[in-house]
Amino acid sequence: MEMVNDVYKMKGMPVAIDLKKHNQPKRKLNIPKELVPIKNDDTNLIYEIVAKIGETDILDGKKTMTSGYNTSILGPVIRLRKGQQTRLIAKNQLNESTTFHWHGLEVAAANDGGPHHEIMPGQEEILEFNVIQEAGTLWLHPHPHKKTAKQVYEGLAALIYVEDDNSDQLLIPKDYGIDDIPLIIQDKTFTDDGQLDYQADYQADGTLGDTSLINGTINPYVDLTKGLTRLRLLNGSNSRNYRISFSDNIPFKQIATDGGFLESPVELTELILTPAERAEIVMDTRQLAVGDTISMLNGDHALIEFNQVAMPIVTNELPTTLNSIKRLSDEEVAKLPMKEFRLAGMGETVTINNEKFDMSVINFETKLQSPEVWRIINEPSMMGGMIHPFHVHGTQFQILSRNGTPVSGADKGWKDTVGLLPKETVELLIEFKVPGVFMYHCHNLEHEDNGMMGQFLVK
Ligand code: C2O
Ligand code: CU
Repeated sequence: MEMVNDVYKMKGMPVAIDLKKHNQPKRKLNIPKELVPIKNDDTNLIYEIVAKIGETDILDGKKTMTSGYNTSILGPVIRLRKGQQTRLIAKNQLNESTTFHWHGLEVAAANDGGPHHEIMPGQEEILEFNVIQEAGTLWLHPHPHKKTAKQVYEGLAALIYVEDDNSDQLLIPKDYGIDDIPLIIQDKTFTDDGQLDYQADYQADGTLGDTSLINGTINPYVDLTKGLTRLRLLNGSNSRNYRISFSDNIPFKQIATDGGFLESPVELTELILTPAERAEIVMDTRQLAVGDTISMLNGDHALIEFNQVAMPIVTNELPTTLNSIKRLSDEEVAKLPMKEFRLAGMGETVTINNEKFDMSVINFETKLQSPEVWRIINEPSMMGGMIHPFHVHGTQFQILSRNGTPVSGADKGWKDTVGLLPKETVELLIEFKVPGVFMYHCHNLEHEDNGMMGQFLVK
């Protein structure tokens, strides 16, 4: 196996690395802290966020060098509220430059933390903006030119929760860490002495680890005390796509996508999450007895175990209406201008519309507040092709169709990242409410660093 991998690597071919069960004892899931603001009143919310290096106790008897926000790995949940004036003081205490990118947040490009906004070690930047979007689960990660993949792999990623009047009034699980549980899903490989070695594990078509971690915890379990549990899933991996299901194929309900609540819950037994995508799902364990366990799986690999440790409290059913989403009619959509994006190549040769990212080139311009259709084409390739998660900064979009067929179910929710299967074409309805230069790119982080990215000016 190892030798085969080495030969593939020499030829620059992607190596499929399966997740294996790590022979470490089970550990209780790490629940990230909630970031305490420096100030929080009706008019102002101020947070300090520090990127730094540390050591994390991931494996028994070893300390792993990692990085994180305000902590040694990952970071606290950053709570924002629609309508609130917000100030983020972002400090870089790493020994290399970084940026603070608020993935999914609708803020002007000056605050977006793309590759143009590198902060040198020891420096800080103050960002100020008003939260204009609805409730959703977003995330923070670094985005420095050609170093995004390495910095995320080494631990930098944190969740951002936006709340609003709608999320306040919805009767859904919202007791943080109890029945509203964040799950940042990642894969990493550890050296014999328990370290991460990004250079050694690097693959041009997406670095994969052989060990799954959730919130930085290996072989994690969670004790459940309620009958309905909301899981906020983030695929925070560099390049792995997950096919999420539960043991015994237990159905679950999806209530939110990247940028907000669905109109109503969608029942599923399986869900695909490509890198950077989020999904909020609700697991119903009211039928379980105390002592029962269910697992969340990726294929047949258990990512995490849930133990029902108390008589499931009889909770209300989920509401049937969660949100209202404004949509355009087919006639209106047919009149909109269209832009095309062709995703092609592999490894070092990846491109969008035959171009690689060039910091000094604005690939196109678009107008503020004017909806457009973006057609994204995952071009057929001789090698069979790959999934590319296509991400756009500064907005949330709607998926209109896949391969010409109008989408349904959870595909109808607000998105900022959409996974395209090989040869797939998707059409997006997209509009920008904030100005400046934003990025669009593949969120397979090695593809992004290899130039599968472009930038556009909104004005
Ligand atoms: Cu999640 Cu351009 O990034
Ligand atoms: Cu890609």
